Amino acid sequence: MMQQHPNYQIINVDSLTYAGNLENLKSIENNPNYTFSKTDITDAQAVDTLFRQGVDVVVNFAAESHVDRSILEPEVFVKTNVLGTQVLLDAAKKYGVTKFVQVSTDEVYGTLGETGLFTEETPLTPNSPYSASKAGGDLLVRAYHETFGLPINITRCSNNYGPYQFPEKLIPLIISRALSDQALPIYGDGLNIRDWLYVEDHCSAIDLVIHQGRIGEVYNIGGNNERTNLHIVKTILQELNKPEALMTYVKDRLGHDRRYGIDPTKITQELGWKPKHHFETGIKETIQWYLNNKEWWSRIQSGEYQDYSTKQYGDRLGDSL
Ligand SMILES: NC(=O)c1ccc[n+]([C@@H]2O[C@H](COP(=O)([O-])OP(=O)(O)OC[C@H]3O[C@@H](n4cnc5c(N)ncnc54)[C@H](O)[C@@H]3O)[C@@H](O)[C@H]2O)c1
Repeated sequence: MMQQHPNYQIINVDSLTYAGNLENLKSIENNPNYTFSKTDITDAQAVDTLFRQGVDVVVNFAAESHVDRSILEPEVFVKTNVLGTQVLLDAAKKYGVTKFVQVSTDEVYGTLGETGLFTEETPLTPNSPYSASKAGGDLLVRAYHETFGLPINITRCSNNYGPYQFPEKLIPLIISRALSDQALPIYGDGLNIRDWLYVEDHCSAIDLVIHQGRIGEVYNIGGNNERTNLHIVKTILQELNKPEALMTYVKDRLGHDRRYGIDPTKITQELGWKPKHHFETGIKETIQWYLNNKEWWSRIQSGEYQDYSTKQYGDRLGDSL
């Protein structure tokens, strides 16, 4: 956003859970048009204070996002993804915004059989506590539009990959473990299918939705790149020149969705969105990025990344900035 719209004033609101890492934003931290606020979106008072400054557009990325964690600890998912969304909606309603964009996921549609794709009309049938909490947030966003006329859009994107992804997610997890010759866990038969999209293509779609999305509409985002988990893992092993013997089949994830596949016709035709990155080159560049930035993910694995925000923002952290 800062590259595409250098004149926009951007407030980055993040409570810095384990998944938040201010090191990723070093390159913009001194930009006069950028402010960081350590704020929990479930804290209505702090959110109200932020909105009082005057906010035109809200893009709600903040979430608990890891399915495995949601199976172990659903409560925090409901808190952030449902209650946090409602707190933001209330503030947006109170102070008025030109657009509220809810960044959601294709996982709210549940699972597909061997054929067919998710369209915006596919019924919401989430299967994990994560996707159920995202669906709950989506329904509140829809309701604030229907009930209060809040100008909203909802985006539902497929699986992202690219640089700076927290190493609990499949691709960085496999790369970092393979480089240390650790066993690579493969759920079930490894044939679950995800539809992969390069992260910057997701961002360009959100940019279009902010500026051109028809009020009240949902837009699916995906690049027609369905791959089995096994294919992803084998591609990484090949690129890293590591043996397939590292693959270790483990008991399947509970409620594991079999297949996701996005039909992006609506955003393509209405808003002219097109992904720039091809999966075959994007995945190779991504693997190379993790190879070149070993220090970045090692600092996450050791927990050191959490010291950065304290050093950078010192005593100002803990309260809203
Ligand atoms: N990663 C994907 O493949 C993908 C695909 C589709 C949609 N999405 C959606 O995109 C958004 C971002 O996903 P991600 O993969 O970057 O997630 P992530 O878990 O890596 O990052 C989430 C961020 O939200 C912050 N956060 C969590 N709870 C908060 C709270 N209560 N208040 C303020 N900040 C809080 C965290 O500190 C972190 O910086 C999520 O809404 C997710 O559902 C992600």
